[in-house]
Amino acid sequence: MATIVGGIATSHTPTIAFAKDAKKFDDPVWKPIFEGYEPVQEWFRAKQPDVLVYIYNDHMTAFFDHYSHFALGVGEEFGPADEGGGPRDIPAIKGDPEFAAHVARVMVANEFDLSYFQGKNLDHGAFSPLSVMVDHDDKGWACKLLPVVCGVLTVPLPSARRFWKFGRSLRQAILSYPKDIKVAIAGTGGLSHQVHGEGCGFNNPEWDHEFMDRLEKDPEGLLDMTVAELAKLGGWEGAEVVMWLMMRGALSEKVEVTHKTYFLPSMTPIATMILEDTAQDAPVEDPEVTRERAWHDYAGAEALEGTYPFTIERSVKGFRLNHFLHSLTDPATRKKFREDEEGTMLAAGLTDEERRLVRERDWIGMIHYGVIFFMLEKLGAVTGIGNIDIYAAFKGMTVPEFQKTRNAAITYGVAGKEDK
Ligand SMILES: [Fe+2]
Repeated sequence: MATIVGGIATSHTPTIAFAKDAKKFDDPVWKPIFEGYEPVQEWFRAKQPDVLVYIYNDHMTAFFDHYSHFALGVGEEFGPADEGGGPRDIPAIKGDPEFAAHVARVMVANEFDLSYFQGKNLDHGAFSPLSVMVDHDDKGWACKLLPVVCGVLTVPLPSARRFWKFGRSLRQAILSYPKDIKVAIAGTGGLSHQVHGEGCGFNNPEWDHEFMDRLEKDPEGLLDMTVAELAKLGGWEGAEVVMWLMMRGALSEKVEVTHKTYFLPSMTPIATMILEDTAQDAPVEDPEVTRERAWHDYAGAEALEGTYPFTIERSVKGFRLNHFLHSLTDPATRKKFREDEEGTMLAAGLTDEERRLVRERDWIGMIHYGVIFFMLEKLGAVTGIGNIDIYAAFKGMTVPEFQKTRNAAITYGVAGKEDK
């Protein structure tokens, strides 16, 4: 069974990444940053977690036109995002799709309505502190990552109590995972700061220290604070401390803080805390019962013949091909595809098997492979094949044979005016 080895609270300001990439290790102005993170790095080396559940917010980099409150990174790996000047020179970090799928099932069973993402890169909110906490070389990182991306920038956002409850539920999800893995949890975000408007430059070190103290000893005493109250004390962007509350909620009731630093060089305090989960409180529910509850809505679905639910596992396995088929919604890409199918598929990195499935319009083969039907509709639209043709192919029938099973012998597709 999975265990929780402890929690980390950390700022995620880009200053940390800047100091690291500019190699300011011995510069007296920047040195306190590294001194704050060295014990955290040592902690990761000592604890060797298999997965780090990483709670952060994206800064309108990967999430902008679709903004959700709680998004779980379910993909096989996550690279550094381009935030305007090209991505940082650090490797992608591996995800853990199997663990992510389990966490998703439990969270949804606990009535947290998540969104799931893959194929998106992570911005400074993730990689800025990660790059000074977790060992890595050009091949990869010392642990896998389960990103929990919190929407804290677009109002309305969930309450402090909701973030806490999410953390409590996350604990239940982790502790009911049947594999023997070690899990660490990081809650990230600046303490008091504001980066926009005339109010920019706001800091409140006194409140920051009080918050860190209460996070350790009386986190539940913070849960009735409104977003506005948090912002009044900590600046508007400082209200992202709710992500620290989520991390704290995933730990035992009593924790031991074994490391704490606070350094305010410019706009955002750079603070770190290590919270040892020494008490290891028992799960609030028998893990077996949690797992059964998480599967309850799907029990029996595997016996439905000719039916392929688009699970997280299937969506990860089929992601490259689904992503390629989705790219046909872009006029320039579909023009290229029509002119040179094979070249476009090769450029997209599709495997031999994936290219064969598309080349042969192997509709049922694509479903078996992990493609969701609605991507097939797009390929149909681009290649002039109607939905009824695809349905007939699924069932091994001719179109007239399939039409006889319907009330009307019609055909249709999702193609727009471009293809009329
Ligand atoms: Fe942030």
